[in-house]
Amino acid sequence: MLTLKPLRRFITLGQFIIERQTDFPYAKGELSRLLRDIGIAAKLVNREVNKAGLADILGDMGETNVQGEDQKKLDVYANEQFINALRSGGECLAVASEENEDLIEIESPVSQNAKYVVCIDPLDGSSNIDVNVSIGTIFSIYRRKNDRTGSTTIEDFMIKGSEQVAAGYVIYGSSTMLVYTTGKGVNGFTLDPSIGEFCLSHPDMKIPEEGLLYSINEGNYMHFPNGVKKYIKYCQEEDKATNRPYSSRYIGSLVADFHRNMIKGGIYIYPSTGKSPNGKLRLLYEANPLAFIAEQAGGKASNGFDRILDVQPESLHQRVPLFIGSNKMVEKAEELMRTFSA
Ligand code: AHG
Ligand code: MN
Ligand code: MN
Repeated sequence: MLTLKPLRRFITLGQFIIERQTDFPYAKGELSRLLRDIGIAAKLVNREVNKAGLADILGDMGETNVQGEDQKKLDVYANEQFINALRSGGECLAVASEENEDLIEIESPVSQNAKYVVCIDPLDGSSNIDVNVSIGTIFSIYRRKNDRTGSTTIEDFMIKGSEQVAAGYVIYGSSTMLVYTTGKGVNGFTLDPSIGEFCLSHPDMKIPEEGLLYSINEGNYMHFPNGVKKYIKYCQEEDKATNRPYSSRYIGSLVADFHRNMIKGGIYIYPSTGKSPNGKLRLLYEANPLAFIAEQAGGKASNGFDRILDVQPESLHQRVPLFIGSNKMVEKAEELMRTFSA
C-alpha cells in the first residue's frame, strides 16, 4: 500500500495576512490589502533587481533626488512600482517617498474611502546597486486620523512613529525577504522564486538582547559626538566577560545592516556628525519603521537620548540620528551619550 508522507505546510504571505486580519479590531481587510499591494510591488522590484546587471536599467539616471543625492534608475523604477501598486490597490490616500519632494496624493476612483497613508524609502542602499550588494525597501503605514476629511496634507504625516499601524522592509539579498510588523510581533517571509510567493520562514523574530557586531561608518569618526567615539572605543576594548572586542560590520545599506543585526544581534549607529547635525537617515521612512520593528522584536531604537518612536515629526524629509538594534547595546550607547554628549 502506498503511504503518503504528510505534506509540510508552508504559509504564504497572502495566507498569513488573511489569518492575522482578525488581530485588528477595526480592520475590514483594508490593511491586509495594503500589505498585499506592497508585497506585489516588492516582487516586481525584486525581478528588476535580479536582472540589474543585465539590462540597461543599471546606473545613474543623471538626475538628483530631493536630498541632492544621485538617483539611480532602480530608485526611480522602485518608486514607480510602489506608488502604482498603492494607487491601484485603493487603500492608500497619500504617499510620502524619499524620491519625491512633496507628498503624492492618490486621486483614483477606487481610493475614495481609503484610510491609510504610507511613507516609503523605495530603494535603500542605492550606492550598492552597481556592485551587486544587498539593497532594500522600507515602508511605514499610518491610519489617518478619523476627524480629518478632505484632501491629504503634510499634517496627516506629522504623526509620531508610536502610532504606526504597520511597518516593514524588503531585503533584496542572497535571497529576497519581506519582514513586517503590525504591532503584534515581527514575521519574516522569504521569496521562493520557483512559485513566486513570499513564504513564512522567520516566524516571531526576536533580536538577541546583546550581540557581538557594531555597524557604523567609521570614516566619519572625527566628526562624531564624543559619546559615539567613546562607544566605538568600548566596542573595541578587550574584555572577556562581555565578549569584547566586538566585530565591525558595515554594508552601507541600512536595511541589510539592520537585518543582519536583527538575526545575529548587534547595533547600527548613524549619529549626528559635524556636517549633518541630525545625521543622514530620514525619520519618516527609515528610522520610524525600523524602530517599530526593532521594538516589536524586543530591541531598541533611540536618537542617542530618546526613543525614536516618540520624536514629533516636523517635516516630510526630516533627518534623525539613529541608534538601533540589540537592547543592551543601544542602552550602553545611550549611557555614553548622556555622559559625554549631553
Ligand atoms: P538611500 O540609498 O535610501 O539614500 O539610503 C542610504 C543610507 C542607508 O541605507 C545607509 O545605511 C547609509 O545611507 C549609508 O551612508 P554612508 O555612506 O554615509 O555611510
Ligand atoms: Mn535609505
Ligand atoms: Mn532610498
